[in-house]
Amino acid sequence: MTQETLKARAAAQAVEAIADGMVVGLGTGSTTRFAVDMIGERVQSGALKDILGVPTSEATAQQATALGIPLVSLADVPRIDVAIDGADEVDPQLNLTKGWGGALVREKLVEMHAERLIIIVDDSKLVRKLGTRGPLPVEVTPFGWEIQARWLAETLGCRVERRMDDGSPYITDNRNFILHCHFSAGIDDPSAVAQALAGRTGVVGHGLFLNMATDVIVAAPDGIRRMRRA
Ligand code: A5P
Repeated sequence: MTQETLKARAAAQAVEAIADGMVVGLGTGSTTRFAVDMIGERVQSGALKDILGVPTSEATAQQATALGIPLVSLADVPRIDVAIDGADEVDPQLNLTKGWGGALVREKLVEMHAERLIIIVDDSKLVRKLGTRGPLPVEVTPFGWEIQARWLAETLGCRVERRMDDGSPYITDNRNFILHCHFSAGIDDPSAVAQALAGRTGVVGHGLFLNMATDVIVAAPDGIRRMRRA
């Protein structure tokens, strides 16, 4: 079974949670792409009525618009009923690392307003400790990014590199840079890292999504597992 099949299976389960009239947060990434396609099919066939989507990136907005999913911005809705998104790492407490797709800030802004945040992953994303599968993305303003890179390395004890895209700095939808923080033995205390980053001027956001996921749907070759926050 391919990873793409697993992603599609997790997405199909998550889409079941969407009902007529709901406001739905639409995540970003290759797994969520499947979910957005499935929502689009249901809207087109009339199986899903009167839903409104809140996209977490320009890419998702484009995909949803092409599929005919009505979109609104965060400012237009009082709350989001369900958000569906992927993740790069999921730990046993359902804490997440997100943002390898670059959309971490808009994802967090939208998903912090969701009653339910359903995370869809294949089983390669499960980790015992965050930061062991890959880097923690931190979005920073271009002004002063070198200073942030030095501060991150010294404060968090990680190796820092600026994310690049074909030889040029990667630019987020918010016109910022992303610094990738590599932790050689993973992140020992994610809450302490989140707290340090929250107070730093010039850090726009980071990819630690702690205590946010309400449901995680994991697709593996031997079936689908659903984990819920107690
Ligand atoms: C986007 O910025 C990310 O947070 C994605 O949700 C995450 O990288 C998962 O993406 P994939 O489903 O493509 O692995």
